Amino acid sequence: MSALSAALGKPTTRIDGIAKVTGAARYPSDEPVADPAFAYLITSTIARGSIQAFDLTEARAVPGVIDIVTYENIGGGFDEARGPDGGPTTTTLEDNHIWHAGQIIGIVVAETYEAAREAANKSKVSYIEEAPSATFDSPGVTTEARQPEAGSNPRKGDAASAYADAPFKLEARYSTPAQHHNPIELFTTTCEWKDGKLTIYEPSQFMWGTKALTAKQLKMAPDQVRAISRYIGGAFGSKGPNPRTHWIARVARRIGRPLKLVPTRDQGFTIATFRAETRHHVKLGAAENGRLLSLFHEGWEVSSRPSPYHVAGVESTARMYACPNIQTAVNVVHADRNTPGYMRAPPETPYMFALESAMDELAHELKMDPIELRRVNDTQTDPVEGIPFSSRSLMKCFDQAAAQFGWQRRNPVPGSMRDGDWLVGFGCATACYPSNMGPAACRIALTADGKAVVGIAGHEIGTGAYTTVAIVTARALGLPTESVTVHMGDSDLPPIMIAGGSNNAASASLVVAKACEQLRAKISEAAVKDAASRFHGKDPASLQLRDGTLTGAGHEESLHTAIERAGYRLEAYAENIPPGLPATAVADMSKGKPVMLGGAARKDVTAYAFGAHFVELRIHRHTCEVRVQRTVSAFAAGTIINAMTACSQFMGGTIWGLSSALHEETEIDANSARYVNDNLADYLIPVNADVPDVGIIMVPEADERVNPLGIKGIGEIGIVGMNAAVANAVFNATGKRIRSLPIRPENLL
Ligand code: MOS
Repeated sequence: MSALSAALGKPTTRIDGIAKVTGAARYPSDEPVADPAFAYLITSTIARGSIQAFDLTEARAVPGVIDIVTYENIGGGFDEARGPDGGPTTTTLEDNHIWHAGQIIGIVVAETYEAAREAANKSKVSYIEEAPSATFDSPGVTTEARQPEAGSNPRKGDAASAYADAPFKLEARYSTPAQHHNPIELFTTTCEWKDGKLTIYEPSQFMWGTKALTAKQLKMAPDQVRAISRYIGGAFGSKGPNPRTHWIARVARRIGRPLKLVPTRDQGFTIATFRAETRHHVKLGAAENGRLLSLFHEGWEVSSRPSPYHVAGVESTARMYACPNIQTAVNVVHADRNTPGYMRAPPETPYMFALESAMDELAHELKMDPIELRRVNDTQTDPVEGIPFSSRSLMKCFDQAAAQFGWQRRNPVPGSMRDGDWLVGFGCATACYPSNMGPAACRIALTADGKAVVGIAGHEIGTGAYTTVAIVTARALGLPTESVTVHMGDSDLPPIMIAGGSNNAASASLVVAKACEQLRAKISEAAVKDAASRFHGKDPASLQLRDGTLTGAGHEESLHTAIERAGYRLEAYAENIPPGLPATAVADMSKGKPVMLGGAARKDVTAYAFGAHFVELRIHRHTCEVRVQRTVSAFAAGTIINAMTACSQFMGGTIWGLSSALHEETEIDANSARYVNDNLADYLIPVNADVPDVGIIMVPEADERVNPLGIKGIGEIGIVGMNAAVANAVFNATGKRIRSLPIRPENLL
């Protein structure tokens, strides 16, 4: 373990905490612009067909209305918008085609928000309406098998024959519902033009993507566009580059004034992305001792008509357990819906629900303890590729969490544990998430007063990113964390990959460590060259920055003296490209292209973080109300940078996992293909009373193979597998196997 990674981990209060709780933190729609006009979206009330005509007479007569923009008057000159995976998407305003309900078909601009909203409500639209296809099994949906590409649909051996010959077989179908991110901060965009240059204030998980892709759609040079997003009020995958931005920019240019859009919460359900509903067919074949002989996993995912977007979690489920015969497949089902997109652990949340429920069913068939079934199938080798995991501490997670949870008190006979009128259930499941890395660049200035300023176009999506960057810089330069100022959320700063796939902690830390190493080398080299220094003539590589000093060869000198000698103010710029990515990775990312080294796509090792969830719940004998009593989850995710914010991420993830098991579902009307519960009153999420006791264990794990700092990333793993752990506990309590989420009392009656 490197000295720097060993120095990380101490619980540290977030440096932006006070700004956030006092309201000083500026979210993008809080940024002041001079004399803004306000935009309100007109959205389609039908899901399929086309616009026949607009009647905007009454709308235009509303006092304060400046302009109403539709496809009829916006004019051309834009590039096609692309979906989250680069495929075509259902955008808006290009023509009169209606792809989905709630599609943006017009933008009202007015002196006030209220006038814009009133005019939008007075806009009349006539449609040529066709019957839409809402979801799976709706008439008119089309299904296509995912196109085979490198690494897709993992397959090995002969799964069909091995299944036929297996002494134990388990075959089951599972499903998960559509869900929406519902970030508390809405999907806002403010655009301001000055001297032909555009500034965008919009919450973004990819600053340089927002900048570069908006420039591309506007056919502008990227250096004429700046994106600013210093804080983000929840994103979870929903706040990437999107087609809304360039429409607001175009309309702002057209009216010659800054323009601010704050869409409503219900509009957020259809103008942004969501987690698509999925279906799964799983077949497991096993020997008497529980060893898996065959694994078959086929998934179906809903997408929009034109987009091939899918998440293909079989990439992960195929790699979970030792198994000689594996077959997987993924299908995309096209319906008249908005294009789905990333939502916290996009592939693993639905696909691991299927696998981890099936493992529990198999354990029951085999009369084996579910932990022991995981143990006999545990492996240090990726079963698909035959290469080692960079590290895998799955069973350590199970053992530590089981001990704290008190798993030995579980009676495996369903319905056998009682507490008065309540049936008691214990359940467990595996969590996993690939350790991804992206390219990044950063700039650091260090002055003789011992202060460092870091600039990186990183993303504070609530994870504590400002603090982790400050901690890594401080530990690498031997400074207190308070001496480091971090600037992020501005595309004028050096680029970093999208804050997605839990990569940004590793990507940012690696590049910051590299820049700090340049600063250390500058200071050390100046010291060994100085005839008056006690370090004169020593090997510069042997000198270290530690606790405000330059240290080495038995000597110590204050950092102040050492920096002054090297030039009073020192600057470093570094780029980091994880091995395996092309040399052009930083340049490609700067153009808005996603460039990521996926943990399952590496040639040297397969890199994943692992974890284990345990749940105790009670189900009322008569009402079938489900109450979760407590959870214990253990995670081994390599180096932890800040134990405090890491624990928060794990807790948030596990609570979202409970939500996905028991609460959340976006209801889709089968006839109109519209979302029914598009508000926070009807869209169910857990409240404090639903999550009484959430225990988190961070299992220490040193991994020098995942990357030089051993950082695996923690943003997404917490949610993965919790839905299965709950379903498995429900089975233990009642003997009822619920294979379709969410689990509601009516499923248990
Ligand atoms: Mo995440 S769903 O990759 O923001």
